[in-house]
Amino acid sequence: MAMNKRILVTGRLPEVIMAELEKVFLVDANTEDKPYERQKLLHGIKDKDGLISMITDNINEEVLDSASRLKMIAHFGVGYNNIDIKAATARGIPVSNTPGVLTDATAELAFALILAIARRLVECDRATRDGHFLYWAPMLFLGREVTGKTLGIIGLGEIGKAVARRAKGFKMRILYNNRSRIDASEEKELGAEYADLQKLLIESDFISLHVPLTGETRHLIGKAEFSLMKPTAYLINTSRGPVVDEQALLGALLNRTISGAGLDVYENEPALTPGLTELSNVVLLPHIGSGTLETRIKMASMAAENLIAGLSNKVPPNLVNPEVLQNRRLTE
Ligand code: DGY
Repeated sequence: MAMNKRILVTGRLPEVIMAELEKVFLVDANTEDKPYERQKLLHGIKDKDGLISMITDNINEEVLDSASRLKMIAHFGVGYNNIDIKAATARGIPVSNTPGVLTDATAELAFALILAIARRLVECDRATRDGHFLYWAPMLFLGREVTGKTLGIIGLGEIGKAVARRAKGFKMRILYNNRSRIDASEEKELGAEYADLQKLLIESDFISLHVPLTGETRHLIGKAEFSLMKPTAYLINTSRGPVVDEQALLGALLNRTISGAGLDVYENEPALTPGLTELSNVVLLPHIGSGTLETRIKMASMAAENLIAGLSNKVPPNLVNPEVLQNRRLTE
């Protein structure tokens, strides 16, 4: 079903999905695997009916004001804190995201970080490559066991629950904190016990963050929270960087207020707080939570499906601003 609509895709998506989009739309796309330049975005959006956006695009009023024809934003990602939803809604533009399809990939990565930091995988790899594996010894690179420990999950949405399911396999005690408590039957199925934030921070050996970035969650974990954690605790962040006060984290790692951290996201990414890279008790990844080929294809396909629905004046399956439907811009 070819549509005479123009779209902008600001990231390099898997070819199979680009081919599908090109069958339907007139596509202008970022062909490089790096963030789309701001000026290109501001210029390129002018004559477009639809946009597939990336987390690296700041879709603010400036962009929306340039986009007088825009009728749909299909965001490639579950977190959409980079989009001014209020401003898009005020202009009648529906916005969608890609929930569900990246749950397992992100939970896998959170668990990979738990194992990597506890068992010192990156340190050990570096030492082995550097020729320091000269003999076996009983106390060599001792890590901490994950099995049977307490995992505190902050934000028990789909990804938090997927982390809990994996933790069950490691016989972990699971505490969770969430805006609202989940059903008792689901708590039982997950083996997860509700705890207020203070109890969770005090009792957990691993604390994994799975909250969206909002005004309420910015700097949710800072100096006061680190001071409640066990000196043997590890912090894992695969959610959004600004949920953690990174300067306070640096201090907590330097002073050994906590044992270590596994990070996939940063407060000012891609910039890192100076000093972080010098520490051996932190594992640093470049925001790859949903970065598997399988998941990227599913995310792109979901974004395409939402865009097609939106530009056909249908309700996109993953609409995040349903209030827009009263005044949405329609396509002819
Ligand atoms: C997400 O989907 O939110 C990932 O972090 C990529 O943006």
